[in-house]
Amino acid sequence: MNILHLDSSARKEESVSRKIAKELVNKLKKNNDQLVYRDISSNIPFVAGIKGAGFIIPEEDRTEQDKELFKFSDELVDEVLAADTIVISTPIYNFGPPAAAKAWFDLVARAGKTFKYEPTGPIGLIGGGKKVYLVVTSGGVPVDSPVDFCTPWFKQALNFLGISDIEIIDSSQLNINDDNLKKAQEKINNL
Ligand SMILES: Cc1cc2nc3c(=O)[nH]c(=O)nc-3n(C[C@H](O)[C@H](O)[C@H](O)COP(=O)(O)O)c2cc1C
Repeated sequence: MNILHLDSSARKEESVSRKIAKELVNKLKKNNDQLVYRDISSNIPFVAGIKGAGFIIPEEDRTEQDKELFKFSDELVDEVLAADTIVISTPIYNFGPPAAAKAWFDLVARAGKTFKYEPTGPIGLIGGGKKVYLVVTSGGVPVDSPVDFCTPWFKQALNFLGISDIEIIDSSQLNINDDNLKKAQEKINNL
């Protein structure tokens, strides 16, 4: 099994989402599993230089900077394609995902590679058999509440690529009490 582990909190040692995701990966990983780790909290460029209606620039029109961006995007896409299990940890920032996680997804959603449009609408090109664990932390916002635009956004974004097997590890409302955190750790222990 190939596991892809992505962390997006701007905190490092203090981060609860990183801690929970690490516990989860340790629980999931068996001896022969391959683990790829990427910290997506920084150094993820924004899509730029686009003239069309998607993240598309014809190869012959690409500047050196565009080429670098597409090369990096290919790398991120390949990591997702190669993974059987993806662990994503995300805090809720201002009711949504961290900007860096959004920037990561903007580079992973690639027409013709990870999704395509048919006359009937968009079709995700990845997914078959992939499982995503989404570790979500917050200060006060409850997961999947009307003011949580992070968890539903991740679900929609991953569904768009064809990934529907998504398990939420709810570690939200950390400023209120540690009930969800304890339940999340219990859930991981029972996997
Ligand atoms: C920039 C920023 C924005 C935040 N916005 C929210 C928010 O909208 N709702 C909320 O409940 N918590 C919010 N928080 C709190 C974090 O979600 C919370 O501290 C969480 O534990 C951070 O995850 P981490 O422990 O992995 O760093 C915010 C924190 C930061 C740094």
